[in-house]
Amino acid sequence: MKGPIQYIESFEFKEAIERIESDTLLVVIDEKVLELHSDKLHLDLVDKDVIFYRVTGGEDLKTFSELQKCLEFFLEKGVHRKSHLIAIGGGTVSDFAGLVASMLLRGISWSVIPTTLLGMVDAAIGGKVGINSKKGKNLIGDFYPPENIFTCLEFLSTLSLSEIQSGRGEILKYCLLDRATYNAVMGNRSLKDLIRTCADFKLKIVEHDIREMGARKILNLGHTFGHSFEVLQKLPHGIAVVLGIHLILRLFDQKEMEETLVALIDKLELVTPLDLYDKGLTPDQVFELVLKDKKRLPGDKIELISVRNIAYHVIEEISVQDLKLKFGNIWQNL
Ligand SMILES: NC(=O)c1ccc[n+]([C@@H]2O[C@H](COP(=O)([O-])OP(=O)(O)OC[C@H]3O[C@@H](n4cnc5c(N)ncnc54)[C@H](O)[C@@H]3O)[C@@H](O)[C@H]2O)c1
Repeated sequence: MKGPIQYIESFEFKEAIERIESDTLLVVIDEKVLELHSDKLHLDLVDKDVIFYRVTGGEDLKTFSELQKCLEFFLEKGVHRKSHLIAIGGGTVSDFAGLVASMLLRGISWSVIPTTLLGMVDAAIGGKVGINSKKGKNLIGDFYPPENIFTCLEFLSTLSLSEIQSGRGEILKYCLLDRATYNAVMGNRSLKDLIRTCADFKLKIVEHDIREMGARKILNLGHTFGHSFEVLQKLPHGIAVVLGIHLILRLFDQKEMEETLVALIDKLELVTPLDLYDKGLTPDQVFELVLKDKKRLPGDKIELISVRNIAYHVIEEISVQDLKLKFGNIWQNL
């Protein structure tokens, strides 16, 4: 893992960005963020050539056609290998722009300025970059860590309630995996403290396992089923993850942990996420996307992360057939 996270106060990015060793900055920025915060960002004032590329944040950005458009745009501008890309936006923008950085001239350095809560605690950290396929989410990509993560909490002031809830959903995931985060939430610590605690935990995990061969797998808690709900129900990522975690606890009969989950939902002021299951979906519809998840193993098995207590995770290997049966049995009673 490259450089640590730098926390920036009041949009004072100029000095940190001046220190980047490149004379050309390729800024991939969410147009909504530009509109809301251009008067404070002042990136055009840094003493470097700055080329802006505006994108519309959201899953529609993470496609081949958008990727091609962006790569061709920068190549047309005559960028060189010492150019440095900066992604400014939420998780969709950092996933997308990080992949652009990894491919442009076979890889240029890059940094992230996360502007959503989910980006600050999760997506901007760890270098998983990618786009979606028709076959499923995040199936095309790379491990390509950013050189810098510049986090400025003031961006959060313009975030919608639903996006704040999404970020809190990912914080809930960390609570189950990490005692320090759990204690911080239960101890009513400030959002600033929570962001730092989650980000430090993720950095610590990915530092030793950038390519997700071991420890990093636990960060996928809730994601296998979560991705299905995210796609089928168009739910914000972090909220879909909460449903995915709930389902896993139910599948592996972790009643006490389900109670803990409900207490955390309450503490994090998440608005009734467990009422969001769309029972109009058939188990087959949900399961079809589960099978396309990256956690599928050879021999028709699937790997699922579960938790038995706070900071006590288990990696469950289960046959696809058994999982389908178990899931079919619990779906109607969720
Ligand atoms: N790479 C990883 O490790 C990782 C981890 C978790 C999630 N992700 C990915 O992250 C994505 C979700 O990220 P997200 O929740 O940040 O979504 P997002 O990037 O779609 O942003 C959500 C919405 O908020 C808007 N927005 C962004 N910043 C804003 C601001 N400061 N004020 C007002 N509006 C703002 C965006 O325009 C968008 O409409 C998913 O694609 C998911 O797969 C990646």
